[in-house]
Amino acid sequence: MITLQTDTPLALHHLHVTSEDPQRLGSFYTNLFDLKVVPHNGNQIALAGGSRAIVVHYGKSGEFAAAAYAARDEAALATLKAKLGDLAETTTPADEIFFRQGAIRIRDPQGRCLIIGVPNKQRSPDELPARLQHTVFQTTQLEAVLDFYVNKLGFVISDEVVDTEGRVTTCFLRSDDEHHSLAFFRGSQDVWDHHCYETSSWNDIRDWGDRFARARYSIFFGPGRHGPGNNLFFMITDPDGNRVELSCDLQRVDAAHPPGVWPHEEYTLNSWGRGWIRT
Ligand SMILES: [Fe+2]
Repeated sequence: MITLQTDTPLALHHLHVTSEDPQRLGSFYTNLFDLKVVPHNGNQIALAGGSRAIVVHYGKSGEFAAAAYAARDEAALATLKAKLGDLAETTTPADEIFFRQGAIRIRDPQGRCLIIGVPNKQRSPDELPARLQHTVFQTTQLEAVLDFYVNKLGFVISDEVVDTEGRVTTCFLRSDDEHHSLAFFRGSQDVWDHHCYETSSWNDIRDWGDRFARARYSIFFGPGRHGPGNNLFFMITDPDGNRVELSCDLQRVDAAHPPGVWPHEEYTLNSWGRGWIRT
C-alpha cells in the first residue's frame, strides 16, 4: 500500500500559533528554546533555531493556526501535490517563511490547516537537542478526522487506544518511520492538545527539566513513559497555556508494522504513574 511513509515521507517542521500577546509568547520560545527572530515581510513573529521553528500570529491565544510538515525534496512534494489534487489550497505568504515557493496548504474536515513544503534552509545542530517532532489535537469527530488523514493524506495508524466498548479514544499517526508525527484524542472539544520536541537521550530530558526549573516553569505531567510510542516524556505549559512536551526514545516503526491496540487506562498514557485522560 502506498502511504506517506512508503512514498513521500513527511516530518513536522514548524508550527503556526496564535497569541493575544505574541511578544510574550515569542520571548518564551526565544529564551527557552534558543530561537532567533527571522526577518520576513509580514506581521507575524517568525522564530527559528536548530531543529525547531515557530511562527506566532496575533489572534486568540491557544487557537492553533497550522502545522507545517516538510517533504524530503521538490520531487516528493510534486508527487504529493498530484495525489492530493483539489485538496491543496493556495498558500499565504506566511506559509512560506520557512519553505520554498510552491508549498501547499490543506484543510481537514474540521478546518485545521496543514502546510506541506520543502524547507528553504538547512538546519543547524541544536545546542540542547530537541527537534520539533509531533503535534496532537483533541477532536469531537475522531472518525471523520481519521478517515481524512489516513485515506486522503496517507498517514498510517501506528497505535490506537480503545475503550471497553471497543470505541477508539486515541489514534497515533505516522508520516515517516517515527511512531507518530500527529495524533488525535477523542474529546468533548476541538482544541489543540500539545506539541512535542524529541531529544536525543534521557540526559537531555534532565537538562531540559533543569532549564525550565531555572525559568520557574514546572512540570505538570510526567516524567513518565508513554505506552504507545514507548517514549519518555514530561510536559510543561508555555505562557499562553499551550502544552509543550519534551520526549526521548520515540519508537521507530517500519512500514509493515500492523496497528497496535492499547486499553484506555492511565497505564497506557503513562506507565510510570498517573495518566492524563482527556474527556
Ligand atoms: Fe505527545
